[in-house]
Amino acid sequence: MLKVLRRQLHTFPVMADKLRFDGRVAVVTGAGAGLGRAYALLFAERGASVVVNDLGGGRHGEGQSTNAADSVVQEIKRKGGVAVADYNSVEDGHKIIDTALNNFGRVDIVVNNAGILRDKSFARISDTDWDLIQRVHLKGTFKTTQAAWPHFRKQNYGRIIVTASNSGLYGNFGQANYSAAKMAVVGLSNTLAIEGRKYNIHCNVIAPTAASRLTEDILPPDFFAELRPELIAPVVVWLCHEECEETGSIIESAAGWAGKCHLVRGKGVILRQKLTDDVILETVRDKWPEVIDMSGAERLESIQEASGSLMTALEEMKAGGAVPTGQKSVSGQYSYTNRDLILYALGIGATVTDPSDLKYLYELHEDFAAIPSFWILPGQVAMMGSGLIGDVVPGKEVDFSKVLHGEQYLEVLKPISTSGNLKSVAYVADVLDKGSGAVILVNIESFDESGEKVAQGQMVVFAVGCGGFGGKRSSDKQIPALSHPNRSPDASLSQKTIEDQAALYRLSGDYNPLHIDPNMAALGGFDRPILHGLCSLGFSVRHVLKRFANNDASKFKSVKARFSKPVIPGQTLRTDMWQQGNRIFFETSVVETGSPVISGAYIDLVETQNVYPNRVSAKALKSEEVFDEIEKRMMANLDKAKKINGVFLYKITQNGQEAASWTIDLKKGKLYKGDPQGTKADCTITIEDQDLVDMAKGTLNPQVAFMKGKLKVKGNIMLMQKLRSLTTEESKL
Ligand code: NAI
Repeated sequence: MLKVLRRQLHTFPVMADKLRFDGRVAVVTGAGAGLGRAYALLFAERGASVVVNDLGGGRHGEGQSTNAADSVVQEIKRKGGVAVADYNSVEDGHKIIDTALNNFGRVDIVVNNAGILRDKSFARISDTDWDLIQRVHLKGTFKTTQAAWPHFRKQNYGRIIVTASNSGLYGNFGQANYSAAKMAVVGLSNTLAIEGRKYNIHCNVIAPTAASRLTEDILPPDFFAELRPELIAPVVVWLCHEECEETGSIIESAAGWAGKCHLVRGKGVILRQKLTDDVILETVRDKWPEVIDMSGAERLESIQEASGSLMTALEEMKAGGAVPTGQKSVSGQYSYTNRDLILYALGIGATVTDPSDLKYLYELHEDFAAIPSFWILPGQVAMMGSGLIGDVVPGKEVDFSKVLHGEQYLEVLKPISTSGNLKSVAYVADVLDKGSGAVILVNIESFDESGEKVAQGQMVVFAVGCGGFGGKRSSDKQIPALSHPNRSPDASLSQKTIEDQAALYRLSGDYNPLHIDPNMAALGGFDRPILHGLCSLGFSVRHVLKRFANNDASKFKSVKARFSKPVIPGQTLRTDMWQQGNRIFFETSVVETGSPVISGAYIDLVETQNVYPNRVSAKALKSEEVFDEIEKRMMANLDKAKKINGVFLYKITQNGQEAASWTIDLKKGKLYKGDPQGTKADCTITIEDQDLVDMAKGTLNPQVAFMKGKLKVKGNIMLMQKLRSLTTEESKL
């Protein structure tokens, strides 16, 4: 501990404004000596009126005297402080509180400090030794605190300290009675902190180590000299200050050091597979190492959280019912904050240049949300490195360097908090034999902190070289990929990925070197590190939400996708979309090569009245297809487009009324619905919806349209000519 102290000395802060207790009344029990005296002196020095309680008995609780309390009161008065003596035993705690009320008219702070020892080895503890220790430490704390409680509640203010001991927290030979009492007050404090919270009553535990008559024959002499009670008093007095927010904590302190201490619980393990199973004694024996494994142990903040995780275990057992005999499930915890949501959004191309993306990138935005595909990550993290699929193919060992992510399904079941912890359970739903390899279906379910299932999904993994084991070829457990309607897309959106896209995306948790290390990429047969399939999928999810759900994440229900080819960071992704009711089919291709990279894919949106505002206007405005086409061409000829160096604003009218506006920003290589953002239009074109379509089809000559006043152009008309050079002859734009 002294080593820690030395290490930390250089960070000691400069003395700030003095903390005061003027107008506050502090009761300190057992304040006639040792730690209590030091607390009482410091409270008085900082302006509190102090009740110095002490029975004045011996170390083992024998006898009584007024001397102890009186001498401390005199010491306080000599220094100009305000104090009154009280000689009651803490077993009559209400009398001590009466002393405070009678002398000072109120009580704000109770430090339960009085204590004695009756050390004996367990076998020799008599009933008297047992009862007296419980009465002074536990009942005394109860009586004194309970007498002050109604006053705290009434004034909506109170600070309580209970005194535990390392003997209770860790156990100590010869102190069974004392250890039990000291741990009992910890339980008391835990509950008082909860019951007091709404009345601004804080309760904390101090576990001190100090030189006093209680420890003179327990602590080594060298150490004893370093352990002045005055070194602990400021910690206790701080816990009682109105500025201190701490409550429900255990603080250990000694020798000018203080630290928080709390219970943690290991991850534990499920001891039966299905709810209908019993727990078998031998299973407990076999799983014992996992029961007591404390790696990944965590603090549970409340009894609700503790029972919440039991609910999760029950859910796991329910899920276990679906696990084929002999297959195992794994689970993992995923903690996330605003930062993870934002990093993910950036990783899949969300950008501040699109104002509707800001809610995914700015934690203080009133609609701050996760892009829904983010909820794939908790399950993926649970699975990664878990060894779940290593031995699931009969007679084969799955080589992880030869495993491909084939398909992904995700369904979001309810709104999920933007920060917190999710527990995910993954289990093998089926294993298929495809000859050249095995297809492993991994079902994943994610639960929030209250144990409610918030998302579920399926990851389809292709294990190269693991086929031929005589298994079935298909499974009704596989969520199928579906072909898009056989017509040209209803909408398309293109976006260029950045060269660092994979480097950025991997920070969301998939650190496979294939996506960053050129050597690993070369080993995998690629010229360069490739983009994560889930990153491309994220782009497509964004595109679908933008086009069909007003970029509103809450409208997302589920997504299914099949990864067919890799993408190289820097390439342009185009998402072609087809609407069929609430289902948006999509196919994602690399514009530069024309190769589809995601296929058989669809997103289901939640049905509400106003789900597809864009689509509604798209139906009403035929010109949307024209802009989709322009966008495709622009993205395919981006360098050429950028050379035009112009920003065009199209105002689309219907029956003379402006119905929509579109911006083609060739400076940035962007096309979007709405007026120019962060720039000005060089050229504004106003045209009727039908006329634009006719011009695009070639049935309306632009010059004629212009002459007839059907096409109005403001600004740089020459740029308009250049725009025509970008679009092909037949589009006649
Ligand atoms: P201490 O013996 O110097 O002070 C305790 C005081 O409590 C005494 O003045 C005693 O007369 C008074 N007292 C005893 N029974 C009483 C009763 N029924 N009603 C009113 N007053 C009573 O001991 P120390 O070390 O200052 O201990 C203070 C508290 O800290 C105790 O609760 C002790 O168990 C606890 N503690 C002390 C540690 C240490 O290293 N000194 C370690 C862990 C816990």
